[in-house]
Amino acid sequence: MKNVIDFDISKAEHYFKDVNISELEARALRANEVLVSRSGEGNGFLGWIDLPVNYDRKEFQAIKEAAAKIRSDSDALVVIGIGGSYLGARAVIDSLSHCFYNSKEAIEKEEKRPEIYFAGNNISSSYIADIIDVVKDKDFSVNIISKSGTTTEPALAFRIFRQLLVDKYGEAEAGKRIYATTDKEKGALKNLSDKEGYKEFVVPDDIGGRYSVLSAVGLLPIAVAGIDIDELMRGAADERKHIMSTPFNDNEALKYAAYRNVLLEKGRSVEILANYEPNFHYIAEWWKQLYGESEGKDKKGIYPASVDFTTDLHSLGQFIQDGTRIMFETVVWIEKARRELFVKGWEGDPDGLNYLGGKSFSEINFNAMTGTMLAHTDGDVPNFLITVSELSAYTIGSLIYFFEYACGVSGYMLGVNPFNQPGVEAYKKNMFALLGKPGFEAQGEELRKRLN
Ligand code: PA5
Repeated sequence: MKNVIDFDISKAEHYFKDVNISELEARALRANEVLVSRSGEGNGFLGWIDLPVNYDRKEFQAIKEAAAKIRSDSDALVVIGIGGSYLGARAVIDSLSHCFYNSKEAIEKEEKRPEIYFAGNNISSSYIADIIDVVKDKDFSVNIISKSGTTTEPALAFRIFRQLLVDKYGEAEAGKRIYATTDKEKGALKNLSDKEGYKEFVVPDDIGGRYSVLSAVGLLPIAVAGIDIDELMRGAADERKHIMSTPFNDNEALKYAAYRNVLLEKGRSVEILANYEPNFHYIAEWWKQLYGESEGKDKKGIYPASVDFTTDLHSLGQFIQDGTRIMFETVVWIEKARRELFVKGWEGDPDGLNYLGGKSFSEINFNAMTGTMLAHTDGDVPNFLITVSELSAYTIGSLIYFFEYACGVSGYMLGVNPFNQPGVEAYKKNMFALLGKPGFEAQGEELRKRLN
């Protein structure tokens, strides 16, 4: 059976002429073995491997029940989280919803569901104040997602939205509108939730933030958005089975992991994930965290970048075609558009577009994609093509698992621990020191000297 994800290297084949494919396969299989035997660095964070078939059914049911409650008593949901506690939910919701999903028209068109706003992913006062404007006169709920409970951005946003709920509903009702997704036994948010009696969901101990979208971290907001989380898990489970049972030659995830490492070894240190569907934008943002945090360490790694085409062909297209040759592209093509439009004829052809009369926008988009791939290939940018049949809960579940698995294998091929993120602490320490957090006083003085 054809897999829902296809991986094609034919436009980049000439970059692999000198590569011994058997050796490459052996390297990929060795990295794969380290992953599945759980014998590599970071092996305490491999809970995601079996998650699609081995998740907590009771919690899954509780997620559905909480989502149903939020859908029935709230006109808006504020989802508070950052990084791995944010991007997965946003990616899935944005990829599977109306492009303007918070508009009244979209909500009426789809089954009635709350508007969804993401907060706690920056420290902008304007951004938070603008969300307050939008939700304060509506019935709303909050899903605070933080494993540690002390991450500055979500903790700050939670202070604001919790108080807004308390002012609006009183302590008791506010508590029933707060859903906390956090550590199962420790941390500031866990302690607060226990004290206040918030409905709690668990960030699993053995799954790092960037691999957590198929846990409660992603699933609660995704279910509130009306997306079928059973289908999402089914897609991931089928992709898992496919990857685990398919030899290298037909194994899209292993080949993607292997060939991107070859390109890195040939000096291509930037990978651009290109898409032709605006719905895909946040999948690329999620992918950037997944690959960036997993591989960018020990002075190694491929820098993950992304472009939204054809939009960015009019801004970054020049550089990709003609600038420094440091990159390769992984193009994601969605075969079936969520909605279709056709070009009609126009008498007199005033805009010169009648040659497109009768064509679907998808056909035009497809030709833009193939034309761009050929142009960029001619410009010495190796292009991979990932084809996905359509954007559905099932295919997005498959794609999530595909990228997660390939990332684990790729990281081990690269020779790093793909499951830690030591580098993300440096900015936090400086910020705490500059803001005068107790315990950081000496460092604060030192930093201020450097700034003066
Ligand atoms: O991948 C990660 O570990 C990070 O992106 C975290 O998810 C992010 O920093 C948020 O952390 P927390 O859930 O503890 O608030």
